[in-house]
Amino acid sequence: MSKQQSFNPLNLSISQVAQEVEPFHVMKLLGEAKALEAQGKQMIHLEIGEPDFPSLTCVHDAVTEAINHGKTHYTPTLGLPILREKLSQFYHDFYHADVPSERILLTPGASGALHLLLTAIINPSDKVMLCDPTYPCNREFVNLLHGKVVSVPVDESSQFQLTLELIQKHWHPDIKAVMVATPSNPTGTLIEQTELKSIADFLEEKEVYLIVDEIYQGLVYERPAESILSIRDLQANVIVINSFSKFFGMTGWRLGWIVAPNFLIPTLDKLAQNLYLAASTPAQYGALRVLENDALAELENRRQTFETRRTQLYEAMIAAGFNIPCKPQGAFYLYWDVSDLTDDAEAFCKALMEHTGVVLTPGRDFGDFRSNHHIRIAYTVDNAYLKEAVTKIRFFVDSVLKNHG
Ligand SMILES: Cc1ncc(COP(=O)(O)O)c(C=O)c1O
Repeated sequence: MSKQQSFNPLNLSISQVAQEVEPFHVMKLLGEAKALEAQGKQMIHLEIGEPDFPSLTCVHDAVTEAINHGKTHYTPTLGLPILREKLSQFYHDFYHADVPSERILLTPGASGALHLLLTAIINPSDKVMLCDPTYPCNREFVNLLHGKVVSVPVDESSQFQLTLELIQKHWHPDIKAVMVATPSNPTGTLIEQTELKSIADFLEEKEVYLIVDEIYQGLVYERPAESILSIRDLQANVIVINSFSKFFGMTGWRLGWIVAPNFLIPTLDKLAQNLYLAASTPAQYGALRVLENDALAELENRRQTFETRRTQLYEAMIAAGFNIPCKPQGAFYLYWDVSDLTDDAEAFCKALMEHTGVVLTPGRDFGDFRSNHHIRIAYTVDNAYLKEAVTKIRFFVDSVLKNHG
């Protein structure tokens, strides 16, 4: 923090929880990367967790039209009824799942969804089980609510995911919710539907929520995309989080959704009224358009591009002698085990960036368990850059790293 930023002559208070929130550590690296870029150095950005494609032109046109027709006011808190209907139809067409529109509510991104949902279900001291590594904000949302995170270390033996066995092994009576993401950030791995169903059944018996983050569904490779909503009774304990950010390519529009059991909807409605009133109106009109068949066909082409990148990057890394413990099945990430090269993934990333211009995300952002031995690579750039990046990484390891011990 700069001196100017920390200058607080009256010593005005900043809440304890806010002081304890962890930043995204990769932002520091990104700042240094930008400074190098400003000096004219060519950088390859493989640290960014969003599609490189812009949102679809048809979405831009639909939103412009909506705005021109004065559709700039608040929507109902739960979202535009027509969009909730359309998402219900999307579940039917895409996942063969029967999801009534009354169970779907629109939120400001999956981030807003996670915050809203956890606020609705977590009391101080309640425990929430997460795997480590995981999407980092989940830990912080639980901390902000004075809940307690039960962190379960996972590795390649379970595809970096929670299993029923792991959940039972780490069980605690105060656990109120278990959170999973399939595909996962940072590993791109899935939980098989049969495993997910056993987990949901076990948690139902325990009267505990299962929160399934499906934000990367749609971006799944060599197999169809799946939702737990197609295999699970929706009146029970399962809640799904999703978003227009990743598969739909609308990160900056800030629109996500929750599918929740009926009994939770009035609570979520009332909380959302207080927290943010409603999700962005233009974004909701954009989402209506992106769910049309022609737009979905364009997104399918993009999915195929991600699949090609995934395969080529994975094969190039393996051919270069690097250890990728799990071939990712979705999202746009590869989780690289660098334990044969360093005990400090963060220092490794910094040196790699300074010597080669390749920017990666050290494991520290995703947890504590063996995080100094892992690095996330996002394939959110063209294949040509991915190829160049692997060559540069190999060069760095062979020459720079060797020479400096
Ligand atoms: C697993 C996961 N969940 C939720 C989010 C939040 O996404 P957004 O708020 O853009 O919808 C992200 C963002 O990277 C993510 O990786």
